[in-house]
Amino acid sequence: MHHKHFAAGCLAVAVSAIGAGSATAQDTIKIGVVIPMTGTSAAVGREVSAGTKLYMAQHGDTVAGKKIELIIRDDASVPDNAKRLAQEMIVNDKVSFLGAGLTPSAMSMAPIATEGKVATVVMVSGTSVVTDRSPYYVRTSFTLGQQSGIIADWAIKNGSKKAVSVLSDWAPGAEAGKVFEQNFTKGGGQVLETLKVPLANPDFAPFLQRARDLQPDTLFVFVPAGQAGTFARQFAERGLDKSGIKLIGPGDITDDDDLPTTGDALLGVVTAGIYSAAHPSQMNKDYVAAYQKASGHRANFISVGGYDGMHVIYEALKKTGGKTDADTVIAAMKGMAWESPRGPISIDPRTRDIVQNVYIRKVEKIYGEPWAKEFETFEAVKDPLKEASAK
Ligand code: PHB
Repeated sequence: MHHKHFAAGCLAVAVSAIGAGSATAQDTIKIGVVIPMTGTSAAVGREVSAGTKLYMAQHGDTVAGKKIELIIRDDASVPDNAKRLAQEMIVNDKVSFLGAGLTPSAMSMAPIATEGKVATVVMVSGTSVVTDRSPYYVRTSFTLGQQSGIIADWAIKNGSKKAVSVLSDWAPGAEAGKVFEQNFTKGGGQVLETLKVPLANPDFAPFLQRARDLQPDTLFVFVPAGQAGTFARQFAERGLDKSGIKLIGPGDITDDDDLPTTGDALLGVVTAGIYSAAHPSQMNKDYVAAYQKASGHRANFISVGGYDGMHVIYEALKKTGGKTDADTVIAAMKGMAWESPRGPISIDPRTRDIVQNVYIRKVEKIYGEPWAKEFETFEAVKDPLKEASAK
């Protein structure tokens, strides 16, 4: 009880400090992004950071007459760190915008963004409920539901009947599994078993063995960015790439950050994803080339969340003439539509969530490296879990 009061008191002080800060004219607008730069999810932070920095390198650091300053803070994917860092950046650095990363961190930052009245762009999290947690949250990443229902429908259409789900055991995994199972069973299929793999330092081998023993025709797998390489290696070590069992999933298992080193393990794998570095638009070709030059590696689906996150902030500032109060900014972001390297995207004015194309892709070797090649497009897909709850 005592502790609770103390925490509430600190936040009250923090919030009034923000009020005082924003009353004075600002020539610099600060954007504070909280992402994992170290620890098991460091690959995620590296990609978001590279995406945001590339956007600034291409579009300059002045918008609506204000200088933009990007601050990146490492939460090592610990939610309590994320909350503390967000609070510190509001109070000490006087940031006008926040960027949020992984689901647990984005969840813990939400009350801070709300009470501090700071517009926040969710650049990584793929869990539906995250954007409901604060009226000042806008998402430029994706949801797992967006992709998992579409791949379930595709699998049914292509003869899958018995599936096993292998899911990373945290919120986005649960949502991927839930939406997959809903659509798969609705189409007459059966999910024989759902296997949950620990999030940290996963060993997929025992789960893959169990999955194989169940003799499904299809394996639906979600692992988060940073784990596709390990997964692919263990998948091939078990001989599952030659077992005749179809491997499908949301785009994460064919992450472009890992694909170049997966050899033949994932060839033929079909996923429903929001971004492939092989997306054939001119804008994406330019993006992938610039990204490669700046970072030394292939752009992936995490990077575009950061890149587009900066875009939504820049364009909102143009619309508000540099005003940064959260209500004005969020109003400017609602309904915004633009072309991303991934294709056309927009911010749903009702939910503040991202609306984007979902592509069915097959992994093929092109010039000696595996790429997720798009062959079918579902346009302007919304998060199915939010759509279901709106009915
Ligand atoms: C999430 O934080 O929800 C998340 C992160 C990485 C992924 C998917 C989801 O690949």
